Amino acid sequence: MWRNTSEKYGLTAVLIHWLSALVIIGLFALGWWMLTLTYYDEWYRLGPWWHKSFGITLLILTLLRVLWTLVNTKPKPLGNKLEKIGAKTGHLLLYLLLFTVMVSGFLISSADGSSISVFGWFSVPAVLTDLPKQADIAGDVHWYSALALVIIAGGHALAALKHHFINKDSTLIRMFGKTKRK
Ligand code: HEM
Ligand code: HEM
Repeated sequence: MWRNTSEKYGLTAVLIHWLSALVIIGLFALGWWMLTLTYYDEWYRLGPWWHKSFGITLLILTLLRVLWTLVNTKPKPLGNKLEKIGAKTGHLLLYLLLFTVMVSGFLISSADGSSISVFGWFSVPAVLTDLPKQADIAGDVHWYSALALVIIAGGHALAALKHHFINKDSTLIRMFGKTKRK
């Protein structure tokens, strides 16, 4: 039930996939909205606090996700040779972009040496500080990689819908833990 098989994703991968997708879209929207706030707005401080708390939680979840993927089998991509290569490269790129976004976010927040509070439950200390123009460069990387991430995730979602509605194969339903289409 929890593990993947060669036919479908197990409940662990399914839950992490959909929860992460939700959190990523939420973080992007919140991050973008944060840019419009002014100093006197209550959310000027609250927004980044939630953004960083969810961001660090996502980072921990994604590290666990990668470990879980490494000790599990995966259903083989369906479709022609090009689609299979596309799917593998696309998934790898999504992971690379995810880590780029999260690490750059961490580097912006901890550039001045401050630790990051996660929902007030615990704090993650700064690791790298005072690199030349750290906050500025990490800020640029954060924005462009977040933008690339949501664009590629959008293409990825369209590909999943194409499999479902045009090819009529089981690609989408096996990400819901099912194997057969009704
Ligand atoms: C997939 C996860 C994430 C997404 C999609 C995301 C997205 C965004 C976006 C769109 C912005 C506004 C544009 C910008 O200033 O760069 C932003 C800002 C910010 N994010 Fe994230 N973010 C994520 C994870 C994180 C994490 C893990 C942290 C830190 C622990 C973080 C810290 C910040 C900070 C401090 C800002 C404000 C930057 C500034 O004012 O220059 N983000 N994020
Ligand atoms: C920010 C959003 C998203 C990210 C970062 C993301 C990432 C990923 C990754 C890395 C995989 C590879 C399997 C794994 O390692 O878990 C995957 C698989 C999959 N995703 Fe997403 N995903 C997102 C949103 C979506 C959406 C919105 C849909 C559907 C409309 C979707 C449908 C699928 C399907 C069907 C698979 C299985 C593909 C296969 O078996 O070859 N994903 N996703």
